[in-house]
Amino acid sequence: MSQETPKALWGGRFSESTDAFVQAFTASVSFDQRMAAEDIRGSIAHATMLTEQGILTKPECEQILSGLETIRLEIEAGTFAWSVAREDVHMNIESRLIDLIGDVGKKLHTGRSRNDQVATDIRLWLRGTIDLAVAELGRLQSGLVHLADAESETIMPGFTHLQAAQPVTFGHHMLAWNEMLERDAGRLLDCRVRLNQCPLGAAALAGTSYPINRARTAELLEFERPTENSLDSVSDRDFAIEFLSASSLVMMHLSRFSEELINWNSTAWQFIDLPDKFCTGSSIMPQKKNPDVPELVRGKTGRLYGHLINLLTLMKAQPLAYNKDNQEDKEPLYDAADTLLGCLRAFADMIPALVVQRDTLKQAAVSGFSTATDLADYLVRKGLPFRDAHDVVGQAVALGVRTQRDLAEMTLDELQGFSPLIESDVFQVLTVEGSVQARDHIGGTAPNQVRAAAARARQRISERLDSLKM
Ligand code: ARG
Repeated sequence: MSQETPKALWGGRFSESTDAFVQAFTASVSFDQRMAAEDIRGSIAHATMLTEQGILTKPECEQILSGLETIRLEIEAGTFAWSVAREDVHMNIESRLIDLIGDVGKKLHTGRSRNDQVATDIRLWLRGTIDLAVAELGRLQSGLVHLADAESETIMPGFTHLQAAQPVTFGHHMLAWNEMLERDAGRLLDCRVRLNQCPLGAAALAGTSYPINRARTAELLEFERPTENSLDSVSDRDFAIEFLSASSLVMMHLSRFSEELINWNSTAWQFIDLPDKFCTGSSIMPQKKNPDVPELVRGKTGRLYGHLINLLTLMKAQPLAYNKDNQEDKEPLYDAADTLLGCLRAFADMIPALVVQRDTLKQAAVSGFSTATDLADYLVRKGLPFRDAHDVVGQAVALGVRTQRDLAEMTLDELQGFSPLIESDVFQVLTVEGSVQARDHIGGTAPNQVRAAAARARQRISERLDSLKM
């Protein structure tokens, strides 16, 4: 990046040039060049509106648009000479425009400031990022729902306190994750609704004396409407905080899910097998196959939480309106987006490749007295109050623990010793299959409920993906 010091675009009132360290310290071009496409798009809309309003002439506009197109191509080709002396993406592009087309280029900044310009750029960029994230979430959800449908009959232990509690179907378990991700997609899209307003025209803070048409720039940039208040427009970053908050929740869910996959993939559990391509080996222990991808997702969650706290803190003491502090919003946002999109991609690729160890899952569900509640419910159906039934089953479980047998492995005589209400039909409710079949209501774990829930989920996901304008 070039370090030469041309006269700053704002240098008129200055009698000496900026200290070299201060120049580097205050510059943002090393990172905000990432929003060059959005910056150019905003400038095109601004110039178009100025021309329609008679503030620029048609020939001037044509020169500006063709200059911006040249710059766009230079940036895409990697030949654009970014300069720290030009401070940020906005002034790098504007200076280059002036180099290319001369004095007409100096007219582009009429009726605008970098303050409304940067606020517009971030919103455009974040809106695109949200669309990518929601699409990637949809891909992950589709994989989950497909797996849920395929494993709707697969029985596993459901846990509370990490103790086998009651049998559930693997498909039901996958759909639990899908529900969390469904709310995550909703939160990201809610955030998109609120950020989808155009700050252009707020200028530095007070608006501008030119006869601009804010509704027109908003329309050209596909914003819902112009922002309502010029001071708020240049200082607001709560849309960015909302994005980080919604993204933190996505990462919290992916981290919990990762934790589960790591346990399930361990030699102790062996519930699933993570395909080799999502694992790495150990440089010392030849037998190891480490679940690096979910471990890294779990680890990267901290970045998002950190960025969220960073931006909350960045904003907490700022007076109205724009302050240079706001330049610090970008790096956390960029890293948040990269982390979020990377983790979603890893998960969306990994889930369809999971190998489900059906026999081990079933075995784990059968041992661990996971049908104890079903036995209590059976006794209630025979007329015993639930508290008494709970006590009876507790005694049966104690015998099982002493003799290392599951309830279904006891004889009818033994069971009748705990309650005379128990008859030979008890063995139907003591099987894990009977237990899951019995939970046959909306939100329940019965295989046919899981298949119906998967179909509803698939419908919601595809409607959402269709509505994304990508
Ligand atoms: N690079 C600046 C930022 O990211 C652009 C806005 C600068 N505005 C100003 N008044 N210095 O916030």
